[in-house]
Amino acid sequence: MSPIPKAELHLHIEGSLEPDLAFALAERNGVVLPYASEDELRQAYHFDGLQDFLDLYYSLMAVLRTEDDFAELAHAYLARARRQGVRHAEIFFDPQAHTARGVAIGTVIGGLSRALDEAPAAYGITTRLIMCFLRDQSAESALETFEAARPHLDRIAAVGLDSAEAGNPPSKFREVYAQARAAGLKCVAHAGEEGPPAYITEALDVLKVDRVDHGVRCMEDEALVARLAAERMPLTVCPLSNIRLRVFDTLQDHPLRRMLDAGLLVTVNSDDPAYFGGYVHDNLTAVTEALGLDEETVRRLAGNSFTASFLEEEEKKAHLRAVEEYVFPGGV
Ligand code: ADE
Ligand code: ZN
Repeated sequence: MSPIPKAELHLHIEGSLEPDLAFALAERNGVVLPYASEDELRQAYHFDGLQDFLDLYYSLMAVLRTEDDFAELAHAYLARARRQGVRHAEIFFDPQAHTARGVAIGTVIGGLSRALDEAPAAYGITTRLIMCFLRDQSAESALETFEAARPHLDRIAAVGLDSAEAGNPPSKFREVYAQARAAGLKCVAHAGEEGPPAYITEALDVLKVDRVDHGVRCMEDEALVARLAAERMPLTVCPLSNIRLRVFDTLQDHPLRRMLDAGLLVTVNSDDPAYFGGYVHDNLTAVTEALGLDEETVRRLAGNSFTASFLEEEEKKAHLRAVEEYVFPGGV
């Protein structure tokens, strides 16, 4: 029985790099990893916060060098996503993390696109690509990255903003977001993961985002919650990530249910599933159990994932019908 149909809207493709593929690519590319085995690498997956995770996440990217590597990475994600009930995926990638290592942006986009072009037929999954700027790099670097991406914009649906949040407010990227919008791209940004609620407000007012990634710290500001609810602003929440990166102590403490009760357009996603202990349906089952969600709430979350996507209205309607018609097999 397939899990409930869903869209995944917050997935860093580099964060789906599993240890077995990392070691296979290291071997192929002659990269020496500072871990003796996959098990030893997994032992390193204990993080005391976002920066601690990012250090490992960027260092492991050293194994990604060729178009084939990026295509294989995306195929591995899509194969897993299908088993998790994913019908549509909007996928982040971090070009600056690769160009800084001498890998051309065309290599990254070319490899990913090759896999994504095959995804509807091979996995029954439609996709979009979201190009993220690293917020701990300069605004100039983001602008240069956007220029380098211009020949490939037909492949890119949206721009995003990720990496170390604290001290790197959305307003730093006003100009590159204005250019992206002028080029017809959608805009999203990580905000209110580790950073304060004011960063969410900036993402809305300065970057004019269509979606907020994470956004969980909005719950510290009642007026902001009311605004997000009134504007039907989607929030792409990643529960297992929030626990692994110590945003909340336990899943029982996670505000997801309170966010739904406040009328927010919340979706459940996996963020960096190879590092955080689960893909998107694993996230959904984990919160269902921890927060005691009923089937109708799970159905609402699945429906929200399509509503909040960048699909065309007719495509959304078809997916929403499938969510409505889904029969739970006795348990989520
Ligand atoms: N890059 C990959 N995962 C991230 C996260 N959870 N927050 C910010 N940047 C990221
Ligand atoms: Zn993320």
